[in-house]
Amino acid sequence: MALPKGIVAIPRTSQKAHMIENLNVFDFELDVADMTTISKLDLNTTQFPECE
Ligand SMILES: NC(=O)c1ccc[n+]([C@@H]2O[C@H](COP(=O)([O-])OP(=O)(O)OC[C@H]3O[C@@H](n4cnc5c(N)ncnc54)[C@H](OP(=O)(O)O)[C@@H]3O)[C@@H](O)[C@H]2O)c1
Repeated sequence: MALPKGIVAIPRTSQKAHMIENLNVFDFELDVADMTTISKLDLNTTQFPECE
C-alpha cells in the first residue's frame, strides 16, 4: 500500500523466507477499492499515547 504512494517500505524480518516474500511485491497491484478498504483499518490511534 505504501509503494503506490511513493513510500519505501522496509519491513524488519529475521527470516530469509519472509524477506523473499516481502520483496515479491511487484507482481500485483492494489486497486482503488483495495486501497480504500485498507485505509479504513487505520483507527488513528497510537501505541505510544505518552508521546502525543
Ligand atoms: N523497518 C524500518 O525501516 C523502520 C524504520 C524506522 C522506524 N521503524 C520502527 O521500528 C519499529 C519496528 O518496525 P518494523 O515493521 O520494521 O518491524 P517490527 O514491527 O518490529 O517487526 C516486524 C514483524 O513482522 C514479522 N514479519 C516480517 N515479514 C513477515 C512476513 N512476510 N510474514 C510474516 N511475518 C513477517 C517479523 O517476524 P520475523 O522476524 O519472524 O519475520 C516481525 O515480527 C516500528 O516502531 C517502526 O515504526 C522501522
